[in-house]
Amino acid sequence: MLKEKIEEILSGCRSVIEKAKTVLELYEAKVSYLGKSGALTALLKELKTAPPEERPTIGKALNDARVSLEALFAEREKVLAMKEREERIKAETLDVTLSKPERETGALNPATLVINEISSIFIGLGFTIVDGPEIELADNNFTKLNIPRDHPSRDMTDTFYISDEALLRTQTSTMQVRTMEKTKPPIRIICPGKVYRPDDDASHSPMFRQIEGLVVDKGVTLADLKGALDVFARSFFSPETKTRFRPSHFPFTEPSVEVDLTCPVCRGAGCRLCKGTGWIELMGAGVVNPAVLDMCGIDSGIYSGYAFGIGVERAAMVKFGIGDMRLLFDNDIRYLRQFR
Ligand code: DAH
Repeated sequence: MLKEKIEEILSGCRSVIEKAKTVLELYEAKVSYLGKSGALTALLKELKTAPPEERPTIGKALNDARVSLEALFAEREKVLAMKEREERIKAETLDVTLSKPERETGALNPATLVINEISSIFIGLGFTIVDGPEIELADNNFTKLNIPRDHPSRDMTDTFYISDEALLRTQTSTMQVRTMEKTKPPIRIICPGKVYRPDDDASHSPMFRQIEGLVVDKGVTLADLKGALDVFARSFFSPETKTRFRPSHFPFTEPSVEVDLTCPVCRGAGCRLCKGTGWIELMGAGVVNPAVLDMCGIDSGIYSGYAFGIGVERAAMVKFGIGDMRLLFDNDIRYLRQFR
């Protein structure tokens, strides 16, 4: 009886050992056969019930079974452990020939798109792009642009001062001064760049961008300004776009104008964007004040010029129909992607 049970356990256990796929499975099988309450151990307890004369042979058979199973377990464990090790190494291998995952690309801010597009329009008109410092001398930001010491925009509340002499430029018009001081006419430049003013609300940001334009040559007039801005407005918005000049005042231009264009949304009929007027105000401009030419070392008896200053965020809002300027500064990639 017991002998048959031993045979049964032996063959059952051998096939379990054979089928085990992992070291863990094998370990669990070993416990269930050879462990304290395992199948073979249980037979040992039954030994007492066997006739005394058979006990030595059965006892030996039990022992032999245990020894042989232990050997089988050990052998199989070696094989499985080796297999698992190889699989682990394989899984951890870095395949340098695999193609890398696509890297997500960003998107340009509408303000950057506007700067790029306006720049290329003026490059087409023969302008050169110049760049200059955002930390400026008060002289270049004000004095040489004909903004005297007692002018309201010199007030501390309108300017970030760094010292008595240095400030964060409040306008890219500083580049008119820097350009005229180091270049002889003819001058045709635009300067896109950041400017700073202590304002912060839905339509003002302490940092925003402007594109300054300056042309100085013999015989330059307000009509040349109108012609250049017409070309710009038609290429930047649409071929039907018209511009109009309204009298204004800037210390560095005389005469000075505000430049309006026909509303790109309603094309002049009147809508929410243009507040029913059919016109959108886009920039300040004018004929360069002879006093500015003279202060910057250019003979106003020989040369004249025109200048303009475009608000970049404003241009982007008008062009793309953006209602809140703060969207331009959030840099939310989901928002920016819409303008690709
Ligand atoms: N600098 C002016 C501003 O920040 C804009 C401007 C107006 C620039 C007239 C010009 C100009 O060059 O001629 O408001």
